[in-house]
Amino acid sequence: MTAPVPTAGAPRTAAAPETLLASEDMPPQSQITREIRDLHAATDAREAAGEPVPATLRDFAPYRSSILRHPTKNPRLVDPETIELLSPAFGQRDVARIESDLTLQHRGEPQGERITVEGRLLDSWGRPIANELVEVWQANAAGRYIHQRDQHPAPLDPHFTGAGRTVTDDQGRWKFTTIKPGPYPWKNHVNAWRPAHIHFSIFGSGFTQRIVTQMYFPGDPLFALDPIYNSIHRQRDRDALIATYDHDLTVPEFSMGYRWDIVVDGPDATWFEQDGEH
Ligand SMILES: [Fe+2]
Repeated sequence: MTAPVPTAGAPRTAAAPETLLASEDMPPQSQITREIRDLHAATDAREAAGEPVPATLRDFAPYRSSILRHPTKNPRLVDPETIELLSPAFGQRDVARIESDLTLQHRGEPQGERITVEGRLLDSWGRPIANELVEVWQANAAGRYIHQRDQHPAPLDPHFTGAGRTVTDDQGRWKFTTIKPGPYPWKNHVNAWRPAHIHFSIFGSGFTQRIVTQMYFPGDPLFALDPIYNSIHRQRDRDALIATYDHDLTVPEFSMGYRWDIVVDGPDATWFEQDGEH
């Protein structure tokens, strides 16, 4: 017997090892999707009955680990001045301009669709928030993070790390040049995939004010299937996390342009997550 010869259409990447596959006792996507739909309907009914419901449902069962992630005890009041004496600082040097271009961090060009993402950081009155540290981290074009725990069998890109930072200007504007991240699998349930997203952190004036969220891309077919995205129960709040394709921001012969404004408080606030979200 000779070894079978791979056919031309065979996948080039090996199948996921056992440890990467969802276990048999995990629910299928259809069950997760049904749970999401039922919980949204139940939450709509609670709101219609006049019950105040927070924008994010913390015990959101379709997001299986959410119960382990959110606080179970009341927040403790800490003295911000004492915290600042002991906590890490921004860094010992200024943020360099090049740090907002994630395509220039290595010798070669990263693989994938080059994009520019631009927006403003605003308060609830629409006033710009200047001089704020904005940080991003993301998967590469194949949906792989440079992280030991990310064993998704997609290629790492030797020319892409996936982390950047910048400081808002006088008008609250920030801008990154990067690669459009790919969707990636996670083990919430069988065949669970996250919609493509970029993680954002906004610092405020100190570590005690830091807030973290995710930006998504328009038209992603995974939106309705993703329990993290749907733990935000109102459609308008979820919509606020989706960037807009803006042809005026598209750079000829270079990159696709996306616009996304971040509002940090008030009724129009962007939704921010608790520690430890994916
Ligand atoms: Fe992520």
